[in-house]
Amino acid sequence: MDKYVNEAVEQFKALLEEQIARERKMEAEKCVVDFEKLPKIIIGICGGDGIGPIISAESERLLQFLLKDEIAAGKIELRTIEGLTIENRIAKNRAIPDDVLAEIKKCNVILKAPTTTLKGGTLESANVAMRRELDLYANVRPVCVPDKNIDWTFFRENTEGEYVLGSRGVEIPDTLAFDFKVTTNEGTRRIARAAFEYARKNGKTNVAIVTKANIMKKTDGRFSELCHEVAADYPEITAEDWYIDIMTANLVNERVRDRFQVFVLPNLYGDIITDEAAQIQGGVGTAGSANIGDKYAMFEAIHGSAPRMIEEGRGKYANPTSMFKATEMMLSHIGYKDKADKLNRALVICTEEKPKYIITGRSDGATCTEFGDYLMQTISEL
Ligand code: IPM
Ligand code: MG
Repeated sequence: MDKYVNEAVEQFKALLEEQIARERKMEAEKCVVDFEKLPKIIIGICGGDGIGPIISAESERLLQFLLKDEIAAGKIELRTIEGLTIENRIAKNRAIPDDVLAEIKKCNVILKAPTTTLKGGTLESANVAMRRELDLYANVRPVCVPDKNIDWTFFRENTEGEYVLGSRGVEIPDTLAFDFKVTTNEGTRRIARAAFEYARKNGKTNVAIVTKANIMKKTDGRFSELCHEVAADYPEITAEDWYIDIMTANLVNERVRDRFQVFVLPNLYGDIITDEAAQIQGGVGTAGSANIGDKYAMFEAIHGSAPRMIEEGRGKYANPTSMFKATEMMLSHIGYKDKADKLNRALVICTEEKPKYIITGRSDGATCTEFGDYLMQTISEL
């Protein structure tokens, strides 16, 4: 038993040193890319697993359509990134194989289809690895249901919490398992700033800081405290503390939910609550997600790769809406707000106002391509 304990202590020491170094580096290196100043923006497209290649191909078609002139003028390049597949990742035993990561880093932004995440084992999730490798600290997830007066934007911390060391816990055979959760000062401040800046720029008056600081006193306690420190620079915005459990109830409480605007939360709570929020909007297939860092950004669907749809031969009926929403967020991020707004408008028409093609995920519904065609036709008529 002593042997295991000593090994665990050594491992914890190494993790601690590594995380201290990460926090210091975060503080030292702050350099935000200005997309307007780039001579060319390279958009990398990762096809992923399961339904991923199908829905990302549809997004690529949409980008080619929307950015036709910019691509022709050499201002934008769409680049296919091969190899971010579960087969290749298992073969190389890497969350993101080194050559794939090198290609990704040559791009400015990434549009990423869902990738399969294995339960257990040691192979880390490609999402988590990419968020860490590209330091994509702000996971921004909007949820909007106009007829219910819901307009929420979640700022999920994306590089810390249970996730950052989630694949590096310790085990004492036949006895126990231990995982680690980490919250750093700068890691918290930067997500808090992102949330409050967004609130300010968009005329929002309320930011909910959502934790379980009554139980996770160190990590969540510090998260809440630091968010309040940042909030002091935004006196026009009310910063409220909420616990994650009651907040999950609030989201389904029609009497209170429409008063919430912006949320800032540690990684795992953000993961869980954004699925709930997306379900209120119509399902995880309807939600897009932006993973923003100072240098890189990655845009993705919030759902998984739906391997069952492929096994049952239903891949072509997959819903591309989440990838289209991710595409919209990407366009806005790289400075094409007008095109993003057009896409948003067309999505509302195609899914709510004149839903000519309904996607059910089965053969009684439209195909991904039919829906994509209808969307592009709608955009051209705007
Ligand atoms: C998400 C997903 C990922 C996460 C998985 C696939 C690792 O659920 O983006 O919300 O937990 O972050
Ligand atoms: Mg999730």
